[in-house]
Amino acid sequence: MSVVLIYVTVVHYTLCGHTMWSKCIGDYYRSKFMVLGLIIISLGALFYSVVFTDSILMQISIFNKSSPQRTFYANSFHLQGDHLEIIGSHLGGKDSGNTADTLVVVEDITSFVNFLKNLSNTTSDASDKIVSRILADIHVSGYEKSVPDGYINRKVDEQYFIQNRNVPEVSCRKIFDGNETELKIAKEIANKIPKSTLTESDYIQLTKECDKFRKDRGYIMSPLTYMEENFPIAFSLLLFKDVGQAERLLRAVYRPQNLYCIHVDEKSHDDVKKAVHGIASCFDNIFLTPRSFDVQWGTMTVLEPELLCMNELWEKSKKWKYFINLTGQEFPLKTNYEIVQILQAYDGANDVGGTIKSANTDRWQNAGPPPHNITATKGAVHVIVNRDFVDYVIHNPIAQDFLNWTRFVGVPDETFFSSLNHNPQLGIRGSYKGVPETDSILKPFLARFKNWGEWPCHGMRVRLICVFGVGDIPLLYSRPEIFANKFYWNFEHFALDCMEELMYNRTRDEFLGKLTFDPTFYRNFEFVRNKIS
Ligand SMILES: *[C@@H]1O[C@H](CO)[C@@H](O)[C@H](O)[C@H]1NC(C)=O
Ligand SMILES: *[C@@H]1O[C@H](CO)[C@@H](O)[C@H](O)[C@H]1NC(C)=O
Ligand SMILES: *[C@@H]1O[C@H](CO)[C@@H](O)[C@H](O)[C@H]1NC(C)=O
Ligand SMILES: *[C@@H]1O[C@H](CO)[C@@H](O)[C@H](O)[C@H]1NC(C)=O
Ligand SMILES: *[C@@H]1O[C@H](CO)[C@@H](O)[C@H](O)[C@H]1NC(C)=O
Ligand SMILES: *[C@@H]1O[C@H](CO)[C@@H](O)[C@H](O)[C@H]1NC(C)=O
Ligand SMILES: *[C@@H]1O[C@H](CO)[C@@H](O)[C@H](O)[C@H]1NC(C)=O
Ligand SMILES: *[C@@H]1O[C@H](CO)[C@@H](O)[C@H](O)[C@H]1NC(C)=O
Repeated sequence: MSVVLIYVTVVHYTLCGHTMWSKCIGDYYRSKFMVLGLIIISLGALFYSVVFTDSILMQISIFNKSSPQRTFYANSFHLQGDHLEIIGSHLGGKDSGNTADTLVVVEDITSFVNFLKNLSNTTSDASDKIVSRILADIHVSGYEKSVPDGYINRKVDEQYFIQNRNVPEVSCRKIFDGNETELKIAKEIANKIPKSTLTESDYIQLTKECDKFRKDRGYIMSPLTYMEENFPIAFSLLLFKDVGQAERLLRAVYRPQNLYCIHVDEKSHDDVKKAVHGIASCFDNIFLTPRSFDVQWGTMTVLEPELLCMNELWEKSKKWKYFINLTGQEFPLKTNYEIVQILQAYDGANDVGGTIKSANTDRWQNAGPPPHNITATKGAVHVIVNRDFVDYVIHNPIAQDFLNWTRFVGVPDETFFSSLNHNPQLGIRGSYKGVPETDSILKPFLARFKNWGEWPCHGMRVRLICVFGVGDIPLLYSRPEIFANKFYWNFEHFALDCMEELMYNRTRDEFLGKLTFDPTFYRNFEFVRNKIS
């Protein structure tokens, strides 16, 4: 107030000297003086707001445990010394979208924090996370020392979640909940109206305008949480055809802090290569391998693109913590936020399948005994391994010798990684010290869910493996594995469509603090505890 008075006085003297206001206003030069006066007053106000208030602009949302609606919404915080105002609104259970109809004034940071803690006591579990988010924001502004790891990143707003990815024709929610009627409807529609999809030439066209492509396709261009930002993951993706399906997988796992290496088969159609090129050109952290192999099942050519990707990923970034390999026909069962927490729970352990009992040992017969006293094991074709494992694979001479040996082995890709992970004498970080047999209790293989016949298949079996149909998704909903294999985009397409909707929703709800994830389950397995560290 005093500042405003000073300005009024200054303006008065500038314009009128010692004459009274009334006389001055009646003056011939009134209009000119008024304009000048207004300019001076505005400049003064601007000066005042810059110097005397330190505004933190941010948004917080707090949700109520018993009703999913937002109960508190604040859109700006004003900090003046240790005096803090929160301007926002209590919405009383209905999300009116109104702002600035409630003013909460808190005297200092300590009572502000207490205030938020009180709020978190009266609202939801999730609001604890929101509180941490706010604390993290205060840290960003330099006012609070202890920042809880991993909460919402202020740099992003809710823009990614304005749209939804709901399947319009059926209710995925009902199908996940096991509603048979809805399932039948979905099967009928899927058979009648086949899925339309973006073609390779669509991708070639669309990726000419990268900004638009990223936006229209709904790519998430922010790490979303500090936890995810600090835990980048490296992916390899091997594909041959069906760019549309692979791109949907990529979109589901894409985050700007991760790194993606794509290998397109040498045999692939030119349009496939061009389309993937186009997609990669729109992202700094997606790249193609410098060479392409003609991948033939059961030969070294399966392993070579993988090794090439490992090399490239290793060279391109020192930051990523884990490596995961994918093919175009799988889809995540966990969000990036959940994957990061699972990998943190693994604490360096590698998730690689292994068996000696049920290995096809005839594959090893021609190769003679393995070098360096390595005991060969057989594993699944998907791996989740830590950074040091990748380092060992591409740089260690023992790994090179062993790789040379696997050249003489049948289906080398199923031997190479599995064996390295189950020979603890090699000292590779994260490898398993126990008996190399995958089993559901001590050493489950959680990298992939595949149905080889342990469960009924509601889709169709192709060479024994279940290609998931829409009837399989309630099972997928409850599986603990990280990815599921496999889907065909044009077979009972609601299976993949609904998985997409589900992952999108979960990402959104976790971001908004409505949903939490508990990784305890992943922490206590024998393969996690009994590892080389
Ligand atoms: C949360 O929602 C329930 C049900 O809508 C309501 O009864 C309760 O008062 C709300 N609690 C708060 C703290 O807003
Ligand atoms: C928090 O709640 C306690 C107990 O209801 C109350 O005494 C205290 O004044 C509240 N603090 C703030 C900052 O609202
Ligand atoms: C929140 O509730 C817990 C248990 O009900 C209590 O111990 C704690 O003091 C409360 N916190 C605040 C800030 O009121
Ligand atoms: C996803 O969220 C939307 C909007 O809240 C909802 O309509 C839909 O049923 C949800 N889908 C699933 C699978 O939960
Ligand atoms: C199952 O879905 C059908 C059709 O959408 C609906 O009419 C029915 O009420 C649902 N059944 C249950 C138990 O929710
Ligand atoms: C090879 O491994 C066996 C059993 O692990 C061990 O007894 C033997 O000493 C090893 N030989 C060499 C040369 O390391
Ligand atoms: C692998 O084998 C090739 C030829 O068989 C040989 O030239 C090369 O030196 C071997 N590499 C290692 C690391 O033993
Ligand atoms: C994953 O990597 C392993 C080890 O390199 C390899 O054997 C396997 O073929 C890869 N699987 C896929 C799906 O790319």
